[in-house]
Amino acid sequence: MQHSAVLNVMIKAAQRAGRALKRDLGEVEHLQVSLKGPRNFVTAADRKAEETVRAELAKARPDYGFLGEEGGAREGSDKAHRWIVDPLDGTTNFLHGIPHFAVSIALERDGAIVAGVVYNPANDEVFVAERGKGAYLNDRRIRVAGRAKLADAVVACGMPHFGRGDLALARHEIAAAQQHFAGLRRYGAATLDLAWVACGRLDAYWERNLAPWDLAAGALLVREAGGFVSDCDGKGDILKSGDVVAGNDFMHRELLRLLQEAAREAGRAEIREASAP
Ligand code: IPD
Ligand code: CA
Ligand code: CA
Repeated sequence: MQHSAVLNVMIKAAQRAGRALKRDLGEVEHLQVSLKGPRNFVTAADRKAEETVRAELAKARPDYGFLGEEGGAREGSDKAHRWIVDPLDGTTNFLHGIPHFAVSIALERDGAIVAGVVYNPANDEVFVAERGKGAYLNDRRIRVAGRAKLADAVVACGMPHFGRGDLALARHEIAAAQQHFAGLRRYGAATLDLAWVACGRLDAYWERNLAPWDLAAGALLVREAGGFVSDCDGKGDILKSGDVVAGNDFMHRELLRLLQEAAREAGRAEIREASAP
């Protein structure tokens, strides 16, 4: 499969950082038992991965801007182009030695995402997409699943934790999902949740309070695989809202409907609680 020069640069950068993370995963497993635990080691691995990606991309495109989760934003002299990078998505999985995490790199041109790579080094799966050119997994063209029955669907979601996010709303959303879908999954890496929708392993996915680096590459994968992506109100600018709903046409529409119903129910529940004697 012939990819463009810029996509090959992105794949090489992701694989370089990913190989080091895969090595580090082995070390993380040893650190599980240590008193201090692996947290500092993981933070260092996260930062090292971002630096590896940034340096690799800068070698090929020194003028492009850069937005990374760990190091923040760096302006480039070329104002039309910006990299959006999550060097280690699925940090909590990685911290526990769970081999489900990814390096995510997206290229933004004039405000639109035109190329994306999501690489899971633990199983060596490279998901790529370029705008108008389709989506691929290890050079095999991928499409979203064609299921059109909620009772057959396996859906992934985020789960607010530690007081982050709206737990009451999430409870209503998860309860609605449990009543309609064959299975609900919480995998812990938003970039891979979107990549798995793009290749049809998952029928749909939703999550709130995500950052542009969690979403940019994965959303392009879903769209280039024939899927639909929006925020929880059905609007398109997910990098701004931080909320995402993804799936094939039917699943996206149905999940949106269920989430909006759950939000209304959560609102009613809140009023009931507030007016309770
Ligand atoms: C997190 C993962 C997780 C999602 C969190 C993200 P990180 O990214 O994608 O699945 O629920 O909201 O912050 O911190 O592991 O890069
Ligand atoms: Ca992330
Ligand atoms: Ca991260």
